[in-house]
Amino acid sequence: MSLQTKFVWLNGQLVPFAKAQIHVLNHSLHYGSGVFEGIRFYQTSKGPAVFRLKDHLDRLAHSAEVMGMKINFNQKELIFAVSEVIKRNQLKEGYIRPLIFFGERMGLNPQGAPVNVLIAAWPWGKYLEKESVKVKISSLKRIHPDSSVMTAKICGHYANSILASLEAKKAGFDEALFLDCYGNIAEGPGENIFFVKNQKIYTPQIGTILPGLTRDSLMSLAKDNGFSINEKSIKPKELKKFDEAFFTGTAAEVNAIGRIDEVIFQDEGEGPVTKKLREAYFELVHGENQKYQNWLTWIR
Ligand SMILES: Cc1ncc(COP(=O)(O)O)c(C=O)c1O
Repeated sequence: MSLQTKFVWLNGQLVPFAKAQIHVLNHSLHYGSGVFEGIRFYQTSKGPAVFRLKDHLDRLAHSAEVMGMKINFNQKELIFAVSEVIKRNQLKEGYIRPLIFFGERMGLNPQGAPVNVLIAAWPWGKYLEKESVKVKISSLKRIHPDSSVMTAKICGHYANSILASLEAKKAGFDEALFLDCYGNIAEGPGENIFFVKNQKIYTPQIGTILPGLTRDSLMSLAKDNGFSINEKSIKPKELKKFDEAFFTGTAAEVNAIGRIDEVIFQDEGEGPVTKKLREAYFELVHGENQKYQNWLTWIR
């Protein structure tokens, strides 16, 4: 995957890719105090459309508020910036990365530090790279919900995610899965998780996980397709009773899980319910589901 495009948007301006640089004594680089989003945009019959842009920007504003950041741009200006980045880079489909970060400042207290806003975008295909992935339950627990604000997407949270991913990769797995501090299944390093049994869908409840927008979208689609949704605590020993498992996330989209440690689902392939919901999700993000047109922002 190449990250290179013509421009990124930085603090109100489109800047040539090579010139979008920051100082090495940047608070967020040293302490993980940035906040970010991952957003996808897709090709539709009416041109590129960004999926749930306003909801992502609302979560970004929430994360910034949690981190005590004052942003100089309102949501309308950020929507315009996203559309400029897509248009001026002539992108048709891909991933958008807004990042808000403190500038030059050392010492933990960031109060008074400059606040920078970046929006970059690039083409990004399948995040998990396989139709069905092998997942390892991490020896590391998900961040304790009393140790941070789990509804915020704070850069520093991702040290926990990166360590779990490295552990899983070293053990020959494709992705990690966190248990939370209570020993319940929580989420992947960058994905929420769902399970299927008969016509019922199960997913961990909010509290120790990031409330994903794809999770929310998937739950609506599942209900539309006649499935009941149960948000509940799930212990690893219960995994055997499920027929299918899948991840959701902006980057991962809807991705089957073929195996979690020793528990195998669907001969390590993709199950029929996952397939149905994955296809429904792809229809939706490509503008083919009339019910959810308001989740799309067309770039014109
Ligand atoms: C830890 C974590 N959980 C879940 C998700 C899925 O969230 P969303 O569907 O909003 O992308 C993400 C991705 O942002 C994540 O980083």
